Amino acid sequence: MKNRLLIIALGLLLNLPLMANVSRNCSSYFLQGNQVIFHLTDSAGLQLQLCSQSVVKIWFSPDGNFQRKSSSFAVINEQLESIDTIRVEEQPACYELFTSKLRIRVNKKPCSLQIFDKYQKLIFSDYADKGHVSEGSKKIEYKTLRRDEHFFGLGEKTGKMDRRGEAYKMWNSDKPCYSIAEDPLYKSIPFFMSSYHYGLFLDNTYKTEFKFGTESRDYYSFEAPDGEMVYYFIFGKDYKEIMGEYVELTGKAIMPPKWALGFAQCRGLLTNEKLTRDIAKGYRNRGIPCDIIYQDIGWTQNLQDFEWRKGNYENPRKMLSDLKEMGFKVIVSQDPVISQANEKQWKEADAMGYFVKDSVTGESYDMPWPWGGNCGVVDFTLPKVADWWGAYQQKPIDDGVAGFWTDMGEPAWSNEDQTERLVMKHHLGMHDEIHNVYGLTWDKVVKEQFEKRNPDRRVFQMTRAAYAGLQRYTFGWTGDSGNGNDVLQGWGQLANQIPVTLSAGLGLIPFVTCDITGYCGDIEDYPAMAELYTRWIQFGAFNPLSRIHHEGDVAVEPWLFGAEAEQNAKAAIELKYRLMPYIYTYAREAHDKGLPIMRPMFMEYPLDAETVGTDAQFMFGKELLVAPVVKKGARTKNVYLPEGKWINYNNKQTVLNGEQWTTVDAPLNVIPMFVKQGSIIPTMPVLNYTNEREVYPITFEVFPAQEGEIAQFSLYEDEGEDLGYQRDEFMKTPISFQTLAKRYELTLFAREGKGYQTPGKRNFVFAVYTSAVPKQITMDGKKLKKVKVAVFNESIEGNTESITWTWDKEAHVCKVKLPDVGVQKQVLINY
Ligand code: NOJ
Repeated sequence: MKNRLLIIALGLLLNLPLMANVSRNCSSYFLQGNQVIFHLTDSAGLQLQLCSQSVVKIWFSPDGNFQRKSSSFAVINEQLESIDTIRVEEQPACYELFTSKLRIRVNKKPCSLQIFDKYQKLIFSDYADKGHVSEGSKKIEYKTLRRDEHFFGLGEKTGKMDRRGEAYKMWNSDKPCYSIAEDPLYKSIPFFMSSYHYGLFLDNTYKTEFKFGTESRDYYSFEAPDGEMVYYFIFGKDYKEIMGEYVELTGKAIMPPKWALGFAQCRGLLTNEKLTRDIAKGYRNRGIPCDIIYQDIGWTQNLQDFEWRKGNYENPRKMLSDLKEMGFKVIVSQDPVISQANEKQWKEADAMGYFVKDSVTGESYDMPWPWGGNCGVVDFTLPKVADWWGAYQQKPIDDGVAGFWTDMGEPAWSNEDQTERLVMKHHLGMHDEIHNVYGLTWDKVVKEQFEKRNPDRRVFQMTRAAYAGLQRYTFGWTGDSGNGNDVLQGWGQLANQIPVTLSAGLGLIPFVTCDITGYCGDIEDYPAMAELYTRWIQFGAFNPLSRIHHEGDVAVEPWLFGAEAEQNAKAAIELKYRLMPYIYTYAREAHDKGLPIMRPMFMEYPLDAETVGTDAQFMFGKELLVAPVVKKGARTKNVYLPEGKWINYNNKQTVLNGEQWTTVDAPLNVIPMFVKQGSIIPTMPVLNYTNEREVYPITFEVFPAQEGEIAQFSLYEDEGEDLGYQRDEFMKTPISFQTLAKRYELTLFAREGKGYQTPGKRNFVFAVYTSAVPKQITMDGKKLKKVKVAVFNESIEGNTESITWTWDKEAHVCKVKLPDVGVQKQVLINY
C-alpha cells in the first residue's frame, strides 16, 4: 500500500499517468501462424498479428485472453497479405520481428512496444514503461508524443484538423445546432493518422477517448472503458498510403449513383406534394441545376410505416413519376424506431421481439422520441429484423422513390448524459457496447435490403450516425450545424464545416455534405442573409453530395435571397455541374483507394509543414485548390499555394508561384480557386440535371506543364446507376499533354475498359490555356483546319466528323476538336 501511494505521489509530481499494474515485464512468447503472443507479468498478454508488411494488429489483454467476444463491426479483412511465418529474434533485452517495411521490437523489462521503419527510425512507441495499462475493465494505451508530431482524422469532428493538443470522445450524439468546438458529434470513427507515417484504428465500440497531448507534452493516449484493447497500426509512406490500407481493413466506399453528385434541395417541412412540386418547378423555371428533392420525416404517416402522410400527398406515385419526367430523384427520410401510436406495427415488432429490450423489465425499451411519441427502438443487430425492415422500406421505392436519408441513428436522445439509456439491451450486447454501432447496423440493413430487392441498382443512403466501416453501406452528412440563436451569425459554423467535412473524408466518408445554409436558425430577413447564403452555396458546391437543408419550414431555395444571390448561387451550382466528369473520375478514386475528392492540403503536400494549418481551404482532387470565402464582409481571401505554379481558375491568365500565401480578390461572385500548372480538367456542358442528356461533348481544359514535363489525366466513365463498377465495367480515356520547346504533344490514348461505352457519338475538345500563339496543328501527321472561334464553338455539339482548331486570342486559349473514336491519336501543336 505504501509503495502504491509512493508511486501515485511520484506520478503526480512527475506528471506521469496514474495506473494500475505499472511496469509489466515480458518473459516469453508463443508463436502461431502470423500471430505472436508475448506473456507479461500478471498473466497479461500482448498479441501482435502481422496483417501485412505494413499493418500490425496489436491486442493488449490484461488477463491474457485473446478470444474476441464478437466479431468486429468495422474490420472485414485482416489478412491483407499472406504472411507465412514470422521470425522472432530474441535478444538479451528484447524480442524483434521483421517485415520488409518494419522492425517491431518488444522490450522485455519493462515490456514495451516500439515500431521502427526499415531505416531504423522510431515511428511509434509505448510511452516509457506505461504502454499498456488496465484499471478494472478500462484499458489505456500511452504512446510517446514527438515535439513535431501532428494527428489528423477521427472522422467528422469539429475544430482544427490538427488534433494535437485536443481530446476527443467517441459517443454518437444528437447535437442540434452544435458549436464549433462540440464533441462528440454523430459518428464514431476511431481512426487517426500521425505525421510520423502511421495510422491507428482502435477497434473498440465503447465510449473510447483520445487525448493528443492534453495531459502531457511527452505522451498521448487512447482508452476504452471496456471491451478489448485491439488496434491496428498502419504504416504508410504518406497519408494516401495509410488510407489505402485502412480501406483494405474496413472495406471500399460504395460508388454513389452519378445523380447523387448533383445538387439537392431539402427543408425540415418539405413533406408535402404541393411544396415538392413548387420547388421542382422553381428550379426548372429558373434553369438552376438540381437532381434531388428530399422529403423530411414528416412525409411518412407514422414512424415508421413508410406510408405517405394522408392529406400531404394527393397522389404520391403520380408526383414521383412527374418529378422523374422533370429529371428529379426523390429521397425520403427514415428513423430507426416504431412509434407506440402506430399500434399495429409496434405490436407486430414487439411480438416478434424486434425491439431493443429494457434489461431491467425485460420488455421492449420505451424510448422517448422528438416526434411521434414514445417508440420502440428497432434492434438491427438481430438478423431476422433485416427482411422485415426491408419489406417496409421497399414500399416507397416501389412507388418511385430513389433512396433513403437515414436520420437519428445515434439513436437520438441517447447522448452521454442520458445514462438511463444504458439499460438498453440489444441482441448483440448491452447499450454501452452497441451504442456507437447502432446506426451502422441499421445502415447495413438498409443497404443490403435495397440491393436484395432492387438488383443491380446502386443504393442511395445518406446517414447521420455511424461507426468506422460505414463507407460499405452509406454516404454521410454532418448534421445540425448553424447558429440557432442568430442565423445571421452563422459564419463560424460555415467556416467550421470546412475541417468537419474534410475530416469526414479522412474517416472514409468521401461522399459527404453539410447542411448548406446551416441547419439551425430562423431566417427572418432574407436580404440580410444573402451574403452568408451565397458563401454557403459556394462552399457547398464542392461538397460531394451538395444538399441545401434547413430546419422546420425555413425556406432556403436559391431564389429567395435576392437577384444577386440567386445569380451567384446559380453560378456556383453550374460550376459543379460543369466539373462533373472530373468529380465522377474522383468518385471512382474514392471507391478504389478511399481518397476523398475534397481533401486536406496535407494529403497532397505532406512534406509542406505549412499545410498542417490550412483549414480554410482544400484540394478538390489533386489538380484544383479551392478556398471558399467564409468570413462576413470579406472580398478577398488569403490562400496558401504549395509548391509548383498555380493558375487562378477565375482568371486563367494569372499564374502565381507556389510556396507562398497570397491574397486574391473574392467579390461575392467569386469562389477563389486555383489549378495546378500541368493539369488537365475534364468538363461538360451544364445540364439541368446530371442525366438530362446521354451524350455530350467533353472539354478537357489543359493547363500545360512547364517545358519538358507532362500533364496527365485519365477520364473515368461508367453507366452511373448500376453495379457494373463492381464488375469492372467502365471506360477510361487516358490523356497526356507534353510541353516541348516550340511544341505541345497531345496524346489521346486508346480507350480502356470493357462493358460500357458512351451511348452515341461525341466530340472531345482540348482547350489549351497558353500564352504561346499556335502556328500549325497536326494530327497523326496531317495538318488540321483552323476555323474562326464562333464557327468552332458552334461545331462542338453536333458535328462529330470534322477535326478543327481555333485560337481565341482574347482568352488565350487554343482549342482542338476531334471525335471520340476510342483509338490512339496524337496531336502536335506547334507554336
Ligand atoms: C434531425 C436531422 O438532423 C435534420 O436534418 C432533420 O431535418 C430532422 N431530424 C427532422 O427529421
